[in-house]
Amino acid sequence: MSTSFASATPDRDWWRRAVIYQIYPRSFADGDGDGIGDLPGVRTRLPYLADLGVDAVWLSPFYPSPLADGGYDITDHRDVDPRLGTLADFDGLVADAHALGIKVIVDIVPNHTSDRHPWFLEALAAGPGSAARERYIFRDGTGQDGGEPPADWRSHFGGPAWQRVDDGQWYCHLFAREQPDLNWDHPEVRDHFLGTLRFWADRGVDGFRIDVAHSLAKDLSHPLRSQPNLDGSLPLDGSDPLYDRDEVHEIYRTWRRLFDEYDPPRMAVAETWHPTSSRTYLYARPDELGQIFDFSLLKAPWHPDEFRAVISRSIEEHAGIGGALTWVISSHDVPRHATRYALPVGTDLDAWLRSDGTDVPLDPATARRRARAATLLVLALPGSAYLYQGEELGLLEVADLPEESLRDPVFERTGRRLKGRDGCRVPIPWTSEGPSFGFGADGSWLPQPDWFGAYAVSAQSGDRGSSLELYRAALALRRRLATGDAFSWVDSGNPEVLRFARTDGWQCLVNFSARPVAVPGTPLLSSTPLSSSNLLSSSTLLSSGTDLGPTLPSEGAVWFVPSAPA
Ligand code: NOJ
Repeated sequence: MSTSFASATPDRDWWRRAVIYQIYPRSFADGDGDGIGDLPGVRTRLPYLADLGVDAVWLSPFYPSPLADGGYDITDHRDVDPRLGTLADFDGLVADAHALGIKVIVDIVPNHTSDRHPWFLEALAAGPGSAARERYIFRDGTGQDGGEPPADWRSHFGGPAWQRVDDGQWYCHLFAREQPDLNWDHPEVRDHFLGTLRFWADRGVDGFRIDVAHSLAKDLSHPLRSQPNLDGSLPLDGSDPLYDRDEVHEIYRTWRRLFDEYDPPRMAVAETWHPTSSRTYLYARPDELGQIFDFSLLKAPWHPDEFRAVISRSIEEHAGIGGALTWVISSHDVPRHATRYALPVGTDLDAWLRSDGTDVPLDPATARRRARAATLLVLALPGSAYLYQGEELGLLEVADLPEESLRDPVFERTGRRLKGRDGCRVPIPWTSEGPSFGFGADGSWLPQPDWFGAYAVSAQSGDRGSSLELYRAALALRRRLATGDAFSWVDSGNPEVLRFARTDGWQCLVNFSARPVAVPGTPLLSSTPLSSSNLLSSSTLLSSGTDLGPTLPSEGAVWFVPSAPA
């Protein structure tokens, strides 16, 4: 008789130090050759992800959707879009992933549905005052004949957050008009999402990423309060009628009770694009979601002071509440970090994209150097790291997508002023040749640039200097090194050089300066080849400690074991 101790004692806390790889399913791998990525495509690429060394995948929405917002407009939260596969494909994917030791996280989008969701169609048909309208936020308009929106709320995608319907009422949509907001004061809405969480947890998913987690609880009392602000100018004290209200936490406490019914408990991570304050971290309390994306690192420009400040803050805030740290520098919502870091600090990214990436020149070598250093920095931090598909290839933003190919609702909603997020959603290259660079058999839903071939998986595999092999090496080493959560800054003697120590004493050094610095110990892994210090005159060396060993070039990072103090 054999006993499996692993299955008898499942690791309840696997997510606290995990590397989680975000898959944007429409752009990952196309199994049936229709130009759109799908679940069978993801399934065939799971061995690649196992080889890469990730602990989990997070699947962005694959649910039935008219695609008004890239799948975040959902008509059925408990099914698979037929263009992406079937529930059987999903079950097969989960089984295959688990067999390879990869956990699966799915996206939950509770703030809104598609305007073609059966509930919304019912609400439209049932008319003003009906019970069906109560599941959403319908109101009469203001002004003469109710021709003005009920309040001054703004949509994140541009324009007012209200749309008028044929009978004269208006409904609220904080995102696209095809994404009506749900009314979370309604018990049916609450029950529906509890049922949805259970549906996927019962199918074996290991966790959930919660979309716009901070906006479910709204102050809908009459008269609706004025709220013309978005993002940066929002109050940070919970007083806003739409975002980050105290009441939202009760929803997540209820969800946590459900997650804890499973063994191991299901994990969850909150997405909140809200200005960071101490309140931000409350979603990560152990009796709520456990994790929140800390976007402050993603928003930080390539500068040592900025990185140091956001890292310190996140660690301090998390320590206070007992949540697990997360680090993320790219996603399907922002220009790829290799591109961001290569542009001068302060570059207006929207304007840069609007110029098709021409108004400020981008040096690919700088992008590569800084992205590689940032990768070693992020993967050396305590907590879990979220990677976005294609970053392991060092992909840059596709800045020059032609207007006619753009699909992000941001483009039309802003009167074609902003190009939106498609440039980081271009299907990823698997082979340097062939139709759609191995993405699928017949083209890709967003056009891929010619330069994608050089970044393909096939072009990088086995090349020790490639971005892909750096990620593979770093993830393998991280598995051995990241055994605890200890973190402390070490004085590098140079404000442009970040240095920190981790559990068991290994350290990370990141050189933001323009000159090489000495590595004060034995290197384990570096983002760029190290040189020998005795090849350099001492005047070119900046001290990062007392020992002179190998040197780390400008804009490089290294993991190392420090030399014992003399
Ligand atoms: C956040 C998602 O990441 C983004 O892609 C989406 O457009 C909005 N939430 C609305 O669901």
